[in-house]
Amino acid sequence: MDKKATLTLPDGKSLDLPVMPGSVGPDVIDVRALYGKTGVFTYDPGFMSTASCTSTITYIDGDAGILLYRGYPIEQLAQHCDFLEVCYLLLNGELPNQKQKDEFVDIVTHHTMVHEQLARLYQGFRRDAHPMAVMVGVVGALSAFYHDALNINDPQHRIISAFRLVAKMPTIVAMSYKYSIGQPFMYPRNNLSYTANFMRMMFGVPTEEYKVNDVLVRAMDRIFILHADHEQNASTSTVRLSGSSGANPYACIAAGIACLWGPAHGGANEACLEMLEEIGDVSKIPEFIKKVKDKNSGVRLMGFGHRVYKNHDPRAKLMRETCHEVLDELGLHNDRLFKLAIALEKIALEDEYFVSRKLYPNVDFYSGIVQRALGIPVAMFTCIFSLARTVGWIAQWQEMISDPEYKIGRPRQLYKGATRRDVKPIAKR
Ligand code: CMC
Repeated sequence: MDKKATLTLPDGKSLDLPVMPGSVGPDVIDVRALYGKTGVFTYDPGFMSTASCTSTITYIDGDAGILLYRGYPIEQLAQHCDFLEVCYLLLNGELPNQKQKDEFVDIVTHHTMVHEQLARLYQGFRRDAHPMAVMVGVVGALSAFYHDALNINDPQHRIISAFRLVAKMPTIVAMSYKYSIGQPFMYPRNNLSYTANFMRMMFGVPTEEYKVNDVLVRAMDRIFILHADHEQNASTSTVRLSGSSGANPYACIAAGIACLWGPAHGGANEACLEMLEEIGDVSKIPEFIKKVKDKNSGVRLMGFGHRVYKNHDPRAKLMRETCHEVLDELGLHNDRLFKLAIALEKIALEDEYFVSRKLYPNVDFYSGIVQRALGIPVAMFTCIFSLARTVGWIAQWQEMISDPEYKIGRPRQLYKGATRRDVKPIAKR
């Protein structure tokens, strides 16, 4: 029997609303007919109780600490798959067999170069610009270079754009870095894996051979896997909302990058490392924790807490593991910031303030340390996140365009401003 919820309004009228079940997770009350039938809206800034769409891509159970991509637990994907297999999964719904994987890798590998004119675009930016500012500009500009496949109603065009974005993001991110340090851009190398090629474009120079370190490549690949999608978070919702107007995918992804840049979202790992630098020493932790607990200080423990995970962030556990592998490989276990992070983690996990609010380390607490150990400068962290999340954004955008219930996103509001009034002549105001 179909479930329904009955809403009784202050005037005594009531309305039956359909209840839609998911395959797993909370049911959803379908309020679409509410305004038409009753003239009232629902109020939910921050989307605390609102599902903005139907999706089959990613499932999170924040209380149980579960993250599934297309049904597969993140732990299994991180252990048994590489990033391109995960990309295939997110885009197509199933893991590839060997033949499908080979074809997918081949297509991505042969789209990693960017239009030569795009390289000139970088010259217009200041060298000291934040690389995320450059990323927003360059990715937004892609539609000026690849306008041969911008018809969003053509499924083939959408697939071409998806391939281009997944394939070119490492090149664009690496170029943003090289530009900031004044080194020549490195062209992609087709004999390397997706992630090894990215590391070579980041750290290689034309004057010498770049030596691939498998442990470090695997760590970077894992960062990509763990950040590939996270259902309807702020940047993904931004991509969907931008795309709902029919905007082209490059413009939508640029909007997602702009949103991701914020410190409460993708900028958290950068903010976390800055916080560790600011604390400086283990002896200063108690003083810092005191500041965090003082509501008037405006200071938060960066890398802790999550809107959805009110238990351990499953990505954080995997990132912690990778963190140890990388520091072992590089002999960095005595690293000052790493030791500080571990001490901070221990104190916060035992502190009543954090325990009672269910504030646990999130993925960003460790990913900053790993990236720093890999040699990635702090300002590039969010660019790496945007590289990884591009596949999730594009899969979600694709899903939205293909959804028969897709409509332009148009939230409503509770208006509390002035009621109608007349304009007085300027001399009488
Ligand atoms: N440090 C100190 N107190 C915190 C923190 C924190 N990091 N996070 C939440 N709180 C407190 C907050 O003050 C509030 O306390 P009270 O109930 O006494 O008023 C309570 O915990 C609930 O906080 P909230 O702001 O209502 O929670 P939220 O779900 O709106 O915020 C968050 C989630 C991620 C924005 C927040 O936890 C935060 O700012 N964390 C630090 C930034 C960070 O690490 N962000 C990365 C998130 S993971 C990456 C991603 O998926 O994008």
